Amino acid sequence: MTTANAPGKIILFGEHAVVYGQPALAIPVTEVQASTTVTEMDSSEKGRILILAPDIQFQGWLHELNSENPLAKACRLTLEALEIKDSPSIRIEINSTIPIASGMGSSAAISISIIRALCQHLGSELLPQVQSQIAFEVEKLHHGTPSGVDNTVIAFEQPVSFKHGEDPKPFEVGVPTTLLIADSGSRSLTSDAVGRVREGWREDPSSYEAIFDQIGSITRLARQAIKAGQLHVLGSLMNHNQELLRALQVSSPELEHLIRVALENTALGAKLSGAGLGGNMIALVSHENARSIVDALDQAGAANIILTVIEE
Ligand code: PMV
Repeated sequence: MTTANAPGKIILFGEHAVVYGQPALAIPVTEVQASTTVTEMDSSEKGRILILAPDIQFQGWLHELNSENPLAKACRLTLEALEIKDSPSIRIEINSTIPIASGMGSSAAISISIIRALCQHLGSELLPQVQSQIAFEVEKLHHGTPSGVDNTVIAFEQPVSFKHGEDPKPFEVGVPTTLLIADSGSRSLTSDAVGRVREGWREDPSSYEAIFDQIGSITRLARQAIKAGQLHVLGSLMNHNQELLRALQVSSPELEHLIRVALENTALGAKLSGAGLGGNMIALVSHENARSIVDALDQAGAANIILTVIEE
């Protein structure tokens, strides 16, 4: 029996604009994980692969699943990359504590945990770059034009500055930086939010591109502020990024409520994270005030709150 994990992620800066070629900053969030366990099965036939995902009440034989099934695609592409023709008969069980459709990279983490578990079980290895490419192919099933940020940060498991078409660059962190990730409780598909932005961009390309450019500039400044440990600057940049996400119409009343509560309770900055329209917001907080802001967000109705620290 072999088990492998992959963390969740959050985007600190640059979501949506990253789909249009701007940079984004993202970090892995190890407090939540996708986990895949591969077990050998007794079977007279070789190569029988059973996939189970109890969280979504899913069960299916790989050879019966079509090419649109993301779990099947992750398995097939991994076996192909490992050049395995005769796999043993195995049972692949996927579990995850990463909330679905909430901007924490659950689909990419699931793919990467499958890739890692299959590699380990079959005694092989795939480089993070290859894991990321496979997960990227699977991400395309979820929404047609993924930027690639989710699969990259999860496969490399370190804070990265990501820009489409360039190698991901790890970014430096000057001082331990405490973030709260609060779930608005409403779910939203990445494809809906990405589709909404695309529609707006088609109708008014010049205004939208001006917003993407501004988000890109903020992201570059944020990278310097994180490196220099300038948390107040970082907080204002988060607030500015949120104004622009609002202009892209991907915020929601629930997200705005949590953002307001965090700021009223001494957060240095707050914004939605990921596709928006639902899902999570993030707040930059001082370590000393973190507890009281957690309590305030809890009272304001956050469905779940995670405290994570980006380490130096
Ligand atoms: O909400 P998530 O975790 O799927 O993140 C989406 C981030 C977007 O920039 C909106 C889309 C993308 O492909 O980068």
